[in-house]
Amino acid sequence: MNKTEQLKKIKYEVLDLKDSPLYIQRQKDKTFPVIGEGNHDADLMFVGEAPGKNEALTGRPFCGASGKVFDELLSIVGLKREDIYITNIVKDRPIANRDPLPAEIEAYGPFLDRQIDIIQPKIIAALGRFSAIYIMKKFGLESQIEGITKMHGKVFVAQVDYGQVKIVPLFHPAVVLYNPSSMDGLKADFLMLFEATRS
Ligand code: URA
Repeated sequence: MNKTEQLKKIKYEVLDLKDSPLYIQRQKDKTFPVIGEGNHDADLMFVGEAPGKNEALTGRPFCGASGKVFDELLSIVGLKREDIYITNIVKDRPIANRDPLPAEIEAYGPFLDRQIDIIQPKIIAALGRFSAIYIMKKFGLESQIEGITKMHGKVFVAQVDYGQVKIVPLFHPAVVLYNPSSMDGLKADFLMLFEATRS
């Protein structure tokens, strides 16, 4: 199976994930799981937390208010959605956008793991603390986990079977919606991330 076929297989498995703690709510709300989108050969992969309302209504990651912030940050470093791959840990929307629960992360994490194995990114930018913690643990970096205010913008390096992967925790773009002055810090982190894609 090629990459696109393997990613499609994940989509159908998630669509049919009746064991998920969020499956019944998805049926009730008539929403969609958000699998991920972008370039299947991307060197740079972004991992968010979980879909919000707009994302669950459309099945597309980061297409609501935080998506606008994300697109602005991408454009500042001259990147387009087609250049990167973007997904979330949790593929269905937690009710009222609450933080994902451990059982939800456990249910959907293996799909994210497979997406990483298929795409084989050289850099993973983890958006927000849940994503940063998941990715740091996955790559054996748990001893270096700190609060997101300490970890953001730092580059951590892990060895994987396809080579080396750089992990860059970032603030979640949604912080700008609550605190517009945080945009400057995010811009600086995105510029640093862009430099990391070129080294
Ligand atoms: N927040 C996320 O973490 N992911 C999305 O897709 C949208 C908002």
